[in-house]
Amino acid sequence: MRRVIIDTDPGTDDALALLMALNCPDLHIEGITTVGGNATLAQTTQNALRLVDHVASGRDVPVAVGAAQPAHGSFSYAYHVHGTDGLGVDLPSTARKPYSADAVELIRDRALAAPGQVSVIALGPLTNVAAALDRRPDVAKAISDIVVMGGAVDVPGNITPDAEFNIFEDPWSANGVFASGVPVTLVGLDVTHKTSMHRDGGPRWFEGKSKSAQLGNRILANSFRERAGVQDFYLHDPLAVAAAVEPELLTYRRAQVEVVTDGDERGRTVASFGDGPVRVALGVDVGRAVEVVRTLISK
Ligand code: BDR
Ligand code: CA
Repeated sequence: MRRVIIDTDPGTDDALALLMALNCPDLHIEGITTVGGNATLAQTTQNALRLVDHVASGRDVPVAVGAAQPAHGSFSYAYHVHGTDGLGVDLPSTARKPYSADAVELIRDRALAAPGQVSVIALGPLTNVAAALDRRPDVAKAISDIVVMGGAVDVPGNITPDAEFNIFEDPWSANGVFASGVPVTLVGLDVTHKTSMHRDGGPRWFEGKSKSAQLGNRILANSFRERAGVQDFYLHDPLAVAAAVEPELLTYRRAQVEVVTDGDERGRTVASFGDGPVRVALGVDVGRAVEVVRTLISK
């Protein structure tokens, strides 16, 4: 079983990714760490707590609170994509409380307790992950690898012509992660914009009667209802979880990656291919990847 920490800003596609991870027999979730991004930190934390309670009520999955703002400035929030509450669907309120330690402590503690065994799957701005690594070579050495949903290397961005949302929101932290020496798998728009659920596939994108399948279907139905004319729900964050479970779903090129932090090109991920700590996903077996997403959420 692979031990993972999921850093996330739920977020509709984050929610699908969390459902996959919670249902996946090959992953042991050491903790979920929250960050502002798609919505405020208070909201993304509440969404994570409610989601875990809804589909995994008996399980001890710590949810630790992370950064409310990026390394500089403020998050801009993606309300137009995810709704003002980040999910667009109501989940029952929960008595579940955030973990006693914060996100940075959780990442550090779990990594140091099992050196080389814990992977991070980062589905939001990289603020927490960079903070956990900042001036802590011991932590960098202990984390086995980081799967990052973020970036647009050979394709246009989705928040500006050059930038993908997660990287744009905190380019400084993204640079910190890429320079940390920890092996990174970059699952960006190069592959996630090829991987979607189509509007016509509904209303039962996920099969069966499980809470997870039902919640997945509600999230997609609502997202399409709220966004007239949109045909594809991109599986950004779900593809990152799929990559952690089955890396061979994607093809990669090794690179050094740097992020532009200022000016019009802020958030652009510039890859120098050859050698480097980042493997950039450039190809995806779309059929198999969508099947992995479907199967895990349908459980
Ligand atoms: C990324 O941005 C967020 O809005 C999504 O949750 C995903 O992590 C896609 O660019
Ligand atoms: Ca996200």
